[in-house]
Amino acid sequence: MCGIVGYTGKRRAGPILLDGLSRLEYRGYDSAGMAVRDGNKLAEVVKATGKLIHLADKTDQGRALEGTCGIGHTRWATHGDPSLVNAHPHVSGNCTGSASGPVESEVVGVHNGIIENYAELKEKLLRHGYTFYSDTDTEVLVKLVDYYYNKYKIGPVDAITRTMVRVRGSYALGLMFQDYPGEIFAARKDSPLIIGTEEDASYLASDVPAILKYTRDVYYIENLQVARISPGHVSFYDLNGDERSLPLTTITWDASAAEKEGYEHFMLKEIHEQPEAVQNTLNSLAAEDEIHLEEAGITQEFLAGLREVDIVACGSAWHVGMAARVLLEDLAGVPTRVELASEYRYRSIPTQDDTLVVIISQSGETADSLAALRAAKERGAATLAVVNVVGSSIAREADHVIYTKAGPEIAVATTKAYSAQLIVLYILAIALGAAKGRITSEQKAGYIRELRTIPDKIRRILEEKERLQWFSSKIVNAHDIFFIGRGLDYAMSLEGSLKMKEISYIHSEAYAAGELKHGTISLIENNTLVVGLLTQSALYEKTLSNMTECKARGAYLMGITPNGNFQVEDSVNFALYIPRTDEHFFPSLAVIPLQLLAYYTSVNRGLDVDKPRNLAKSVTVE
Ligand code: G6P
Repeated sequence: MCGIVGYTGKRRAGPILLDGLSRLEYRGYDSAGMAVRDGNKLAEVVKATGKLIHLADKTDQGRALEGTCGIGHTRWATHGDPSLVNAHPHVSGNCTGSASGPVESEVVGVHNGIIENYAELKEKLLRHGYTFYSDTDTEVLVKLVDYYYNKYKIGPVDAITRTMVRVRGSYALGLMFQDYPGEIFAARKDSPLIIGTEEDASYLASDVPAILKYTRDVYYIENLQVARISPGHVSFYDLNGDERSLPLTTITWDASAAEKEGYEHFMLKEIHEQPEAVQNTLNSLAAEDEIHLEEAGITQEFLAGLREVDIVACGSAWHVGMAARVLLEDLAGVPTRVELASEYRYRSIPTQDDTLVVIISQSGETADSLAALRAAKERGAATLAVVNVVGSSIAREADHVIYTKAGPEIAVATTKAYSAQLIVLYILAIALGAAKGRITSEQKAGYIRELRTIPDKIRRILEEKERLQWFSSKIVNAHDIFFIGRGLDYAMSLEGSLKMKEISYIHSEAYAAGELKHGTISLIENNTLVVGLLTQSALYEKTLSNMTECKARGAYLMGITPNGNFQVEDSVNFALYIPRTDEHFFPSLAVIPLQLLAYYTSVNRGLDVDKPRNLAKSVTVE
């Protein structure tokens, strides 16, 4: 995880680095640091534990650091606890690693990722007289660069490529060398990194929002490449040290998309952006009554030839897969497996070339999902990435890619990306069903027309958010919450439960309603909240019976069901109605009250909604 920034230009670097880091805090926030240098002078290093505000306070909002070239980092601990000494930047020189001020050091660096063979490399460096002040793999990496730089007198690019050949793992790296004032060197393998330029300045960042305020012209540095960055100029090198040219990409999103725009939290803003996220995604895949997947290189023949779909993802994206399975089986008649990426990559699942492996990922950088994609390709499957971040690793490496049009998502708990992913998977199921002759073109047109009504229906649910705000104030002290449902309702329960626990810290579980009686029902006590999802007419009675079994044991019941099912009030204590739609598409509507319930519960508990403890948005470690 972790976020990296860099700046070299004519302005004071400190405030620019801090501003960039503030937009990357979602990538980790247990400590932060910066190194800034002024011409030939030594780099000044300042670090602080905890959130970025501590670093801002320590440096007078970055103004206390002299100099126009610097690198910065916000950390999510992997090796070593979240202490001052382990915070980045790390240096090659001998020092305590915790004092602020100028550091006598040839190399200073920040790193995102994990160096797997760091212990072996540390041994080697110890033998060569290096000493270590921290527990981090990053300090080892910086010192290894220093070792090659001094041993062979080969200049920064070659010292970095030699290091890259020796290390195993993933990294995005930003380095400054004492002998090269005004320059930053960068490298990446399997961790995201971009470089922005304008006339007399250049920027380095883990993600676009960090630099969007300054420039829209970015380079996506490729895997196993090194960049040499000076004000307004960047050159790229491969592992042999040969220069490479890369295309300059212009970012088209609106900078305000990465700001809160008056909402109290990014999560609330992103919840409200779901109608647009759904509509934009739908418009990119369907025009009139037809589905268009040509841009992703997906043809009718390709779909007709598929015999199986495996969906692989993590977290909420995996929940999208759990819902999509129902549609793929129901509308397309295609056997569908849904696998957690962290499990899939280590299993030897027999895969044929008529299997489509769909990797769903908001960030496109989740380490387990990326590894699963590579495993699927090795196993001979065709791969499709459903990704939000353009140019991300998963998008680049998959055979086919469909982008969700959710725009940048900042809150750690995903909302609008989840909703946009659902749309892509619905469309895929409909297209597959049509290609296989399971649904007629009239049915297909009917589904597409119905999908076009979803954004307005989401808006209608959002208009009634005060009811959920009120209800959440009643459950603010809950110890356990259960979310139950069958079929698609079970898939929604999974997402409702994860949203609740990740931002409210209330223990919650999602259960297939029929499975509750095989053990878990023993946890039901007086006033335990059970949230039942009741959107599928064929399963309505059955789930409601399971809910009343809980009520008989003291549970307090909340039911989420389509408008018109008013008889539910005979059984539940609190009913929440959502507009009607085709039953396959209810996940897009039922998820809205689940998100709002989690959001308001977190707010009522006084928690940091956008940055819940122990989490990070983009999980680029295994
Ligand atoms: C993290 C986020 C989740 C997300 C998961 C997968 O755990 O907190 O919201 O669902 O990663 O991320 P991805 O970027 O692959 O969708």
